Amino acid sequence: MFESLLWLKETTSTQDFLKDKKLNPYTVVVADRQTKGRGRLGRSWHSQEGGLYLSFLLPRGLRDEKTLPLIVSYAVSELLKSLGFVPAIKWVNDVYLSGRKVCGVLVEGTKDRLVVGIGLNVNQEGFPQELKAISLRMVCGRVFDRVELLMLLLDFLKENLHRLKEEGFVVFKKDIEDRLLFKGQEVVLYTPEPVVGLLEGISADGSLLLMTSEGLKGFAVGDVSLRGVW
Ligand code: ATP
Ligand code: BTN
Repeated sequence: MFESLLWLKETTSTQDFLKDKKLNPYTVVVADRQTKGRGRLGRSWHSQEGGLYLSFLLPRGLRDEKTLPLIVSYAVSELLKSLGFVPAIKWVNDVYLSGRKVCGVLVEGTKDRLVVGIGLNVNQEGFPQELKAISLRMVCGRVFDRVELLMLLLDFLKENLHRLKEEGFVVFKKDIEDRLLFKGQEVVLYTPEPVVGLLEGISADGSLLLMTSEGLKGFAVGDVSLRGVW
């Protein structure tokens, strides 16, 4: 699936690197560090050496395209599980270990392509306190070979993107729910208006299901956090 790969020492953002060029779908670009790594809504992504920062191109019009942030987060969580970690998926685009964020996924669209970005904290020894971030090394004390990790990650992405194409999002629903962060807990979803509810799970289209004072409701967008925790 992924036929060409470019590994850079440094770039502003691997997302912008791919957006600026006319490259084929499934091209992958990796950078050792990014000077302007970003998350959703223009928030910045801490991209010092030691992490794995990559983006790849997909054609538009894939089956259940809107669920890609969840599917890619799921593929990352499968990789981490295969290495012995116990990952949780924070709806809709993050992976957590030990209650801290280890990975973020960003999907952006251009006219005929999707640009999928993954930031995975691998060998970093620490982060600014306020980030609530963690790396694989901080969890288990081991230093990882990032090339090996990338190859494994691409295998998990390939397998799960293929499954999405063949069977659709619905077959992922239960597996994602089983490792959904805050499941069964009272949360606030900022849509951006705050909505309080019990996190029940996800629906067949990937929306977040909250039991609110007005009954069960599905949400396609929003930032979720535990109620009363900032
Ligand atoms: P969050 O709930 O963490 O804000 P999000 O998916 O809404 O998740 P974004 O809005 O895309 O996140 O922005 C990325 C956020 O991730 C930043 O605001 C910052 O708090 C956090 N962050 C930045 N760099 C890292 C990193 N290397 N590891 C973990 N978290 C990071
Ligand atoms: C998030 O947490 O919401 C998304 C973070 C995505 C970070 C990755 S790192 C590789 C790619 N390049 C970027 O500038 N962002 C993504």
